[in-house]
Amino acid sequence: MKKIITAAEIKEYDRFLRMHFCNCLTGFKSPLLVGTTSESGNENLAIFSNVFHIGADPSTIGMIARPTTIPRDTVANISETKIYTLNHIPLADYEKGHLTSAKYPEEISEFEALNLKAEYIEGFGAPFYADAPLKIGLSLSSITPIKENDTILIIGKVELVEVEEKNLMVTGHLDFSGLRTVASTGLDTYYSTKFIDRLPYAKYRK
Ligand SMILES: Cc1cc2nc3c(=O)[nH]c(=O)nc-3n(C[C@H](O)[C@H](O)[C@H](O)COP(=O)(O)O)c2cc1C
Repeated sequence: MKKIITAAEIKEYDRFLRMHFCNCLTGFKSPLLVGTTSESGNENLAIFSNVFHIGADPSTIGMIARPTTIPRDTVANISETKIYTLNHIPLADYEKGHLTSAKYPEEISEFEALNLKAEYIEGFGAPFYADAPLKIGLSLSSITPIKENDTILIIGKVELVEVEEKNLMVTGHLDFSGLRTVASTGLDTYYSTKFIDRLPYAKYRK
């Protein structure tokens, strides 16, 4: 039996039920570890799954951050330093990746607290997660408040990417089966994934 759930019913849900249900609606994501430093040099690592492709020329990526009604180290650090990294999470590290969402004080580095090794790539000032099989360095392009709920749209320009050569195909596709990164839904559920097919560009034919 199928169930129709209306906006009025969702509004009546208890806070946690609503949070889990609404966070699951858009399905699978690649949760990424966002690496930053504060202006005073404190490193920070936090898991974000609301991260999405915006455009390819220039290569641009967006992410949604929660409202800054409480201190948010990632948002503060990106605003200060204007650079950050996105790091795909190896399957083996999903539990540690999840733990980066805990509210660590500003002066505590999640890299150190969770024994996730920080790595710097020459010429780029923000920290990467050393074991990430796909690493992206970005410069801040814009920060836009979302009027609907005070969340924040952070848009960045891709400055560099590090990936194993064997997982980068001549066509430009990335082989995520080979990269063995984790996928997630909502705020607490993690999956491994399986390749199904790659299809040709879809053309309309009369
Ligand atoms: C699977 C998962 C996905 C998350 N995605 C986001 C997200 O897209 N945006 C966000 O602001 N917070 C997200 N969070 C919450 C942050 O990880 C959490 O607020 C963290 O404390 C932020 O750290 P910071 O204060 O060091 O920036 C997510 C948490 C989990 C567990």
